[in-house]
Amino acid sequence: MAKIESETKATEELSIRQNMKPEIPVKGFDFIEFYVGNAKQARYYYEHGMGFEVVGYRGLETGERELCSYVLKQNNIKIILTSALSPNHPIADHVLSHGDGVKSIGFCVDDAASCYNTAIERGATSVSKPVACEDNHGKVISASVKTYGDTVHTFVQSNDYSGLALPGFKDINSWSGGTGLCTIDHVVGNVESEKMMEWVQFYKDVFGFHVFQGFNADDINTQYSALTSRVMANRAGTIKMPINEPAAGQKKSQIQEYLDFYSAPGVQHIAMSTNNIIATVEELRKRGIEFLSVPSAYYDTLKERVGAIEEDVQTLAKLGILVDREANGYLLQIFTKPVEDRPTLFFEIIQRKDGAKGFGKGNFLALFESLEREQDLRGNL
Ligand code: FE2
Repeated sequence: MAKIESETKATEELSIRQNMKPEIPVKGFDFIEFYVGNAKQARYYYEHGMGFEVVGYRGLETGERELCSYVLKQNNIKIILTSALSPNHPIADHVLSHGDGVKSIGFCVDDAASCYNTAIERGATSVSKPVACEDNHGKVISASVKTYGDTVHTFVQSNDYSGLALPGFKDINSWSGGTGLCTIDHVVGNVESEKMMEWVQFYKDVFGFHVFQGFNADDINTQYSALTSRVMANRAGTIKMPINEPAAGQKKSQIQEYLDFYSAPGVQHIAMSTNNIIATVEELRKRGIEFLSVPSAYYDTLKERVGAIEEDVQTLAKLGILVDREANGYLLQIFTKPVEDRPTLFFEIIQRKDGAKGFGKGNFLALFESLEREQDLRGNL
């Protein structure tokens, strides 16, 4: 326990020592937009599998000739699924290169134009200038800048909007009941070997974010491969974005497998929080969501590793939920298998107990080993 406390303290000191720019005032994650090959079928997965409510649609029926999108919500999580309606659209190129994946990580802000202008002054590359969209529910202003690969950050100002979805969307209301997913806890990016520190600098210089926690190849390694990671965060702790890069190992890193199949850096996983991970995972499994498996030996020594926990270890073992202790509290986590045929994007379900804020090193390693077993089955290790 003393070791964990000293690691947390060292990380805090590291962030204080950093030469930080004033933060762009990002309140938290807003929507995550996915570019997908078939938004109608993706909607079915997120609605009936993950428990999202479908609240909005735009497409041919709403006068949109180029693309179609669905807006889905569950508690504080909002996702947009977008497909092209012709092969000549940039969205079609994106799907051709990357398969289904995350295009935009939205940041909720009070003044999109001011945030965008600050980001551009500090060296960010523009994707779209501030634009206001209105309907009879009010106005949303958004603007986007580039980040790693073809991924973008969108500043979203929607204080003056009372609609369920977004301006220009037709309201729809379709819901099969929720699974208890509450908020976006963190969004993880994979970047190329030796590029991680460039992106760390980008988030420091442009957004004023700091390194919240770091993992080196010595921390996260298996018999075969390793990774290096830095968690970029805002001071309020509402934005946490780990950035991974592959590290040299005996065989191919699972980060490199992602980069090969996504054909670029991009979002590796999105962690969504729940207040009751056992109920959430039971419901998700019932709905057919597939999770990475955990060897039963993991649970044999769990109590010795993490101490007393409220959950029944046998239930956690049956569901494949991982546990890690921190200086404050503990984490419960589980990872889905990739949610498309390419071994790229997956989801994490996380419950933080008693004030746990970090990213358990033990779970990171368990994830890595679990991913490698799957990677081996795919012939990519
Ligand atoms: Fe994670």
